[in-house]
Amino acid sequence: MDIQKIVEKMADNIEMVLVGKRKIILLTLITLISDGHLLIEDVPGVGKTSLANALAKTIDCGFTRIQFTPDTLPSDVTGVSVYNMKTSQFEFSHGAVMNHIILADEINRTSPKTQASLLEAMEEGQVTVDGITHKLPHPFMVIATQNPVDYLGTYNLPEAQLDRFLMRISIGYPEKQDEAQMLALYIDNEPLANLTPVVDGKTIEQMQSAVRGIEMHPDIRAYIIDLISATRKNASLSLGASPRASIALARAAQAHAAVNGRGFVIPDDVRTMAGPVLQHRFVLTPEARLSRQTPKTILDEIIHKTNAPNI
Ligand SMILES: Nc1ncnc2c1ncn2[C@@H]1O[C@H](COP(=O)(O)OP(=O)(O)OP(=O)(O)O)[C@@H](O)[C@H]1O
Ligand SMILES: [Mg+2]
Repeated sequence: MDIQKIVEKMADNIEMVLVGKRKIILLTLITLISDGHLLIEDVPGVGKTSLANALAKTIDCGFTRIQFTPDTLPSDVTGVSVYNMKTSQFEFSHGAVMNHIILADEINRTSPKTQASLLEAMEEGQVTVDGITHKLPHPFMVIATQNPVDYLGTYNLPEAQLDRFLMRISIGYPEKQDEAQMLALYIDNEPLANLTPVVDGKTIEQMQSAVRGIEMHPDIRAYIIDLISATRKNASLSLGASPRASIALARAAQAHAAVNGRGFVIPDDVRTMAGPVLQHRFVLTPEARLSRQTPKTILDEIIHKTNAPNI
C-alpha cells in the first residue's frame, strides 16, 4: 500500500482548513498511523481545535469532542451503568471516549481525576465501569489540546500522563502570506464545513499495520537505545525518556520513513522524530532551568554527541 500517497492526500485535505502548516499536519498524520495519541499545546486561536476537527472530517469514522471544564466528571468520559426499570438490570451507557477520534479539548482545565479516566482509556484501549470492561473501537486516537501551563485555573498533566502521548506539538502563528491566504479563504467561506472524507477507518488500520512492517536495522534500534539512555544519564534532566518512549520513537521513525516513501528506517527518521516524541517527557533540573536550558537544547546536544549508524 502506498502510505506516502494516502498521507499526502489527507494532508492536502486538512490544509484546506489549516493554512501554511504542512509540517504540523504531517506530524499529526504520523501520530495517527503510528497508532498514537497527540497533545497539541499552544496559545489560543492558532488552530488547535480546527486541526483536530479537520483530521476527523478527513477520515470516514466516528468523532467526539469533549470540552473539558473543571466540573467534567470521569463518568462523562468513560460512561456509566444505569438501572433499567423494565429489565431490572444495569446497562452500560457509554461515555464520550467510546469513539474513533476523540478531541479532548483543553484537557488541562479539568480535574486530575477526570484526566486520569481519559488517560487510562488511551493506554489500555478499554474502559472499566463497575467492574465490567468495555473495549474501545479501532482505530482509536485522542487529540488533546491545552493552553500553555502557566495560565490561571489549569491543572498540569502529571509526567506519567504526558508519557502516554506519542507526540506533543505546537502549531505556532502562521507566516504573513499564509495568514493573508487564510483571510481570503475564510472571509466568505467555511472551509471546515465543506471538508469531505478522503479515507475510511479500515484504510487507517491497514496503514498502521503497514507502518509496523517498515524495516528497522538492528543498528537503528541500537541508535534509538543510545539516544534514550543518554537522556536518562543527562545531568540537566531529573527525568529522561521511559521505555514507552523508546517504542514511541521507533514507531514514529517507521511512520516517518513510510511517509517519505521508504520501506526502511534511516537515522534521519529517528532524529526528526526525536523532538516531538521525546521533549515533553523530560523534566529539567532546577539548575538547568535557571541556566535557561530547554528540552530542545538538551536534546540537540544529545543528538549531536550520539554516534549515528551508517545506513
Ligand atoms: N493557520 C491557520 N489556517 C487557517 N485558519 C487558522 C489558522 N490559524 C488559526 N486559524 C483560524 O482561527 C480560528 C481559531 O482557531 P481554533 O479555534 O482552531 O483555535 P484554538 O487553537 O483551538 O484556540 P483556543 O485555544 O482558544 O481553543 C479558526 O477560525 C481557525 O480556522
Ligand atoms: Mg480550541
